[in-house]
Order: sequence, then structure tokens, then C-alpha cells
Amino acid sequence: MYNNTEKFWDDIFEKEKLKDLSAPFGIEKLDSCIDWLCANTGSIIDYGCGNASMLLRCAYLNVKKGLGIDISCQAVRTAVDYISKKDLLGFSVIQGSLEALKSIKDASFEGAILSNIIDNILPDDALCVLKNIYRILTHGGRVFVKLNDFMDKEKLKESIDFFEKEISDNFFLEKSGLYFHNLSDEKFERWIMEYFKVVEKGRIEFKTFDCFNRFYLLQKL
Ligand SMILES: C[S@@+](CC[C@H](N)C(=O)[O-])C[C@H]1O[C@@H](n2cnc3c(N)ncnc32)[C@H](O)[C@@H]1O
Repeated sequence: MYNNTEKFWDDIFEKEKLKDLSAPFGIEKLDSCIDWLCANTGSIIDYGCGNASMLLRCAYLNVKKGLGIDISCQAVRTAVDYISKKDLLGFSVIQGSLEALKSIKDASFEGAILSNIIDNILPDDALCVLKNIYRILTHGGRVFVKLNDFMDKEKLKESIDFFEKEISDNFFLEKSGLYFHNLSDEKFERWIMEYFKVVEKGRIEFKTFDCFNRFYLLQKL
């Protein structure tokens, strides 16, 4: 199901180096979300971590244990190189998908990052990720979720050239081979309501990419 996704991200991460993560990203809202996640949080799991830039940033904010999981070998290689170069004891990043997440022990992490993954995988898998993150977190555990901006009808029309087909309602296969779920706030909040309370939600502006992402700061019920 994810062969094209894996290839797409391998190609991207093969060319991308990680900058030094000891300094904040310089994107105010993103940095404050990460600060919130790391406050009194000793351990963090990041599913769909990419090169793990966010997870590894947490190593500089007093987080002692970190685990990243990503389907792309190239992304994992970049992260693992950074970990060994900077000697980030307690941090690891592994290649894998849902099966890797399912194998993590119950209540073994205090925090989680789900950044641009929930709306880029099959909806059933997204639900499975959310359920597993709930299972893996300790009581009161914190989650930082980042989602693509929701596209209204007008925006969807403008972006029609990106899409190969609509697989199901608001769930698209892009020409790039990636999946895109145009997930509304209402649907996402319905998905999480029995597992997490929303502490804060809003939007983060990425000026370099001229775009916004939505964010949710969640706490395990
Ligand atoms: C948009 S990138 C986000 C990377 C990182 N979380 C960030 O925000 O910088 C999406 C990442 O999800 C990974 N991914 C996609 N589908 C996946 C799956 N089924 N299991 C694990 N990782 C997956 C991709 O390889 C890619 O690194």
C-alpha cells in the first residue's frame, strides 16, 4: 500500500541533510508546540518521523528517551547518522510501518509526535495509529499533531492537477504517489475524542513554503 510513498520519501531524504538541532527552528508556533510537548516529558515516540528533526530537537529540551519510526530507509539513515554524530544517548530511529508501532509496549512513552502523517496514510491506518499512540502513552501523556491545512471546495478545485483520483470521500491519491486525506477538524476531533482532550489547536505558518499547517496539542484521557 505504501511502496510509492516509501520511494517518494527515499528520494527526498536522500538529498536532505539535517541542520544542527540544538537551536530552535525559528518558527515561533512550531517551537512553542515542541516546548509544550517536552515540558516534564522524559520520553517521546514519533511515528512517521521522517529524518526525525522534531524528535531529535527534543533531545536538547531535556527529553531523555526518543524513538522514531519511519517507512523511508533514507530518512532513517539521516536520523541515525545525526544521533551517532551528536552522541544522543537514549535516542533511536527505526525503519518500519504500523507493525513496528504495534510492537511497542503499553504505557512506555510520555509524549508523541504525529507530524504530517495522520492525513497522509489510509484513514483506517490513521485510526490504528491514534489507537496505538493512546495505548503506548502513559496517563496524561502529551501529543503534538500536525496536519495539512483543510482545503475548501475552491482550494480543492485549484489543486485538481495534483490528484490522480479520489479514492473515497475527501481521500485522494496524488500524482506523486502519496495519499492525501483532506481531513476536516470535525472528523479529526471525532476520531480522537474518546482517547485525548484538546489542550490547544491552531495554525502554524511556514513562510518559506508559503503555507499553513494545523496543529493540535492533545493530552491522553
Ligand atoms: C510529510 S513527511 C513528515 C516527516 C516528519 N514527521 C516531519 O514532520 O518533518 C511524512 C513521513 O511519513 C512517512 N510515512 C508515510 N507513510 C508511512 C507509514 N505507513 N508508516 C511509517 N511512516 C510513513 C514518510 O516516509 C515521511 O517520512
